[in-house]
Amino acid sequence: MKTIASLSVALLVATATCELAAPSTGTSSLREEAQKKDILIGSGAINPDYLNDTRFAAVLAEQFNSLSPENEMKWVFLNPAEGQYNWQTIDRLVDFAEHHDMVVKGHGLISSCCNPDYLLKITDAEASRTAMKAHFEAVMHRYHGKVDRWDVVTEVLETMGGGLQHNYFYNVTGPDYIEDAFRIARAADPSAKLFINENQVEAIPSKRQELYDLVSGLVAKGVPIDGVALQMHITEVAVVPGVITEMVDSYEALGLEVAIAELDVHTLNNTLETEIYGAVIAEALSAGITDISFWGFTDKHAYTWVPGAKPLMFDENYKAKTEFYATHKALSGFIDTCQ
Ligand code: XIL
Repeated sequence: MKTIASLSVALLVATATCELAAPSTGTSSLREEAQKKDILIGSGAINPDYLNDTRFAAVLAEQFNSLSPENEMKWVFLNPAEGQYNWQTIDRLVDFAEHHDMVVKGHGLISSCCNPDYLLKITDAEASRTAMKAHFEAVMHRYHGKVDRWDVVTEVLETMGGGLQHNYFYNVTGPDYIEDAFRIARAADPSAKLFINENQVEAIPSKRQELYDLVSGLVAKGVPIDGVALQMHITEVAVVPGVITEMVDSYEALGLEVAIAELDVHTLNNTLETEIYGAVIAEALSAGITDISFWGFTDKHAYTWVPGAKPLMFDENYKAKTEFYATHKALSGFIDTCQ
């Protein structure tokens, strides 16, 4: 006969087990579907501290075959002082990925924020280039063979378009900092794919053209670039059908690939949000995109500028939302049609 004490131990164990397990989605995982066609389905915005939450870690490993950090690879966080590197945070992500048979995308070599004081104090173009080279080499050599692709530069254009952002590198070196970054990155790790990461081009036609002009200029000059990473932080308005396909076709003609790097949808309208997830994934896949990442997966850790929005595929308690099922349907539908 069970005693009260043994019953309460059993209850405690059950409660603990419940806390550890993420709710089942009741269907195959995104990565199971994706791997049938060698598609990368990833989550960015992975702060390594989130892995302390076993449910977070379980859903990440179950659903995705690629991950990338949130801010931890941006210059000031990884390399706050000359020669000083905080490797342990990124090492933890890389180890997690290896353990779960995932690939890692590097994000933040040059970002639109987050430059350390030691760099900002350098005002001579040649010295700034030397600092860029030292930083890229340290980071890319350490993660050679472990990080398969990089956002080399992020948000080089003004948010609404209308020229290059006057960031630190532009101010010190001029527009050539972009090609310097790609050449230095290629030399530091010839085996990694190199991307230019940009926002809003799917929403603003003039910015779309501006990015195309910039990238085709780089290609014409022989700058080593492999692709364009579309952030795709979508706010309220669906992408016009055909725009993703048009971008893929035009960059393919330059010999480049297009990836989706940071998809999430910011609106209070869940029906619209779900439709946007499904439509973007369906068009991206049929246009030939094989590398799709979201900017996180659980609303528990969402980064949003729309108060109250819940932009991701799983809720705060790791329950799959309609956005997950729309993504899953688009992905599995695509896999089925091409089998
Ligand atoms: C964001 C992070 O998610 C935030 O935590 C941080 O406060 C600001 O940067 N595009 C990018 C990412 O390329 O680096 C940004 O990440 C989101 C927009």
